[in-house]
Order: sequence, then structure tokens, then C-alpha cells
Amino acid sequence: MINKLELPTDIQRTIDAIRERNKQNLVDNTDYIGSNYYTPPSHELIYDTVIALALGKNILLQGPTGSGKTRLAEWLSYFFHQPLHMVNCSVDLDAEALLGFKTLEHHDGKPSIEFTPGPVIQAMQKGHLLYIDEINMAKPETLPILNGILDYRRSITNPFTGQVVQAEQEFKVIAAINQGYVGTVPLNEALKNRFVIIHVPYLQGELLKDLIRLHSKLTNEDMIQLFVRLSADLIFQTEKGQLSEEAASIRALLDAADLAVYLPAKRAIQRAIIEKLEDEREQALVQNIMDTLF
Ligand SMILES: Nc1ncnc2c1ncn2[C@@H]1O[C@H](COP(=O)(O)OP(=O)(O)O)[C@@H](O)[C@H]1O
Ligand SMILES: [Mg+2]
Repeated sequence: MINKLELPTDIQRTIDAIRERNKQNLVDNTDYIGSNYYTPPSHELIYDTVIALALGKNILLQGPTGSGKTRLAEWLSYFFHQPLHMVNCSVDLDAEALLGFKTLEHHDGKPSIEFTPGPVIQAMQKGHLLYIDEINMAKPETLPILNGILDYRRSITNPFTGQVVQAEQEFKVIAAINQGYVGTVPLNEALKNRFVIIHVPYLQGELLKDLIRLHSKLTNEDMIQLFVRLSADLIFQTEKGQLSEEAASIRALLDAADLAVYLPAKRAIQRAIIEKLEDEREQALVQNIMDTLF
């Protein structure tokens, strides 16, 4: 959805070179290239992110849940034509999930131990992008592994093989943290230090309308307008700390918009937004906002 991105000539040249190298490196058809499916909340956001990545920096996307951080990472993969490997830190993440594991293989009847590289090693060795979601949720004992790869040395000693793995030139990390308005687990300073920070806010107003038109089944303009107002009210209440942040997620809003094509709008909102909230007081608040609008 990004039409024009006028970049300085030297940056454009760097990007062309990166794309060219990525094309040549694309040998494995299991490699995942992201998609064009992203609408930036501002021109600066996309411009600054592209420049930082072209300069070889690691990026930290900071924003509330459902604000499009993963979509942005996928768009960057698409833009640089560079495969993306994904790691999610919110699940029980250990060294094996990041780096890989050993398996017993048989070759000509002879058993041998082989190492299957995980997302970090793969991305480093192939010079791909590594997306680390919810990096602030990683356990303290996992952090040193991540510190190592983000370091200027860009290398790690693989504890499973004893080998030193050096990252290829194009290897870069895009990390994300769900930064809510309340109760975010802060990111370790040493880790944060290694990133350029990009704030990713929710889409609003006309841009949100476009997104609903493009990515939901809803076509009725009056309804689209109501959903945009609903979103603005929900964001306002999360900012004030009256609602937990899932309430304002664009993901949930698009779900509600889809359902509203077939169900009465209020029931759609009930199912896609209200019933996900744990707190009865919060449910009542959203109910109230909904009743005023719809
Ligand atoms: N700026 C955006 N551009 C495109 N889609 C978006 C955007 N923001 C939110 N979405 C929609 O919301 C959903 C959640 O986005 P996602 O990238 O998973 O959010 P996050 O990673 O920040 O939690 C996506 O599947 C997409 O449909
Ligand atoms: Mg995400």
C-alpha cells in the first residue's frame, strides 16, 4: 500500500544491491518472503524504518497489540526481497527454539548426530531477516543469546555444536514489543541499546477507513464511518487506562467489521471485541460506547 517512497540515491542503490543479492541467495523454497499488505500510519514511519534497515541497523518496533507490527515486518521482508524468520518470545522460548536442535540421522546405515538449525542460526547464515516478536517477554537466561547476535561482532557460539556462527552481511533483526499504555514488561536496557526504535501507533481516521475498505468485507460507508469512530473511542479509553489494550486492536476491529456484514453490528462487536475482555467493568464501558454509536 506504499506507493511512493522517494529515497536518497545512495540509499536506493544500497537497497537495489540488497535486493539483487537476496534474489541470488533465494535457493530454498521454504524461505518466506512477506507481503505488500501494510498501510503505514505515517510517511516518516516507513521512510525512517527503510533507511535504518538499509543502513544495517536492527529495528525495534514498539506499539500496542494489533497495531500492525508484524505486518510491517512482513512488508519490510517484501520490500527488501529478503526472507523473514520468525521467533515468538511469549511462548516458553529456550536456546533450542532459537538456535536449533540435534537429531539422530542414519546415513548408509550408520547413525550420526546432526544439527537442525533454528530460526536464529538460519537467518544469520543465510543473511535473512529475523523477526523476534514480544522480545520483552524473553526469559532473562535467553537474553544473553540475543545480546550476542545484536552485538557488533554479530556472532554466536552455538552451544549445541561448539561452532562459532558469524552472521552474513545482510542479516538484520527486527524485534517487536507490545507496548501497551499500562503494564508493559520493560525491555532490558542492554538489549534496547542495540536497536533503533520505531513507534508504531494504531491507524486512525481516513487511513483506517481505507484499511477497512480494503481488508474487511464491509462496504457500507456509514458503517465504516461508525467503526472508525468506535476505534477512536476505544483508543481514547485505553490511553486513559480505562480499557485493556486488546480492546483497541485493529485486528479485533476488522473481525467485527467482517461479522457486521452478516450479523447486526452490535452482536458483531459483542463477539469480536467485548467478550474478549476479562473485566466486567470494561465490558460495560465498551457496551456503552457501542450503544451510543450504533
Ligand atoms: N497498519 C496496518 N496495515 C495493515 N494491516 C493492519 C495494520 N494495522 C493493523 N492491521 C491489521 O490488524 C491485524 C493485526 O496486525 P499485526 O501486524 O498482527 O499487529 P501486531 O503485530 O502489532 O500485534 C493484521 O492482520 C491486519 O489485518
Ligand atoms: Mg504481532
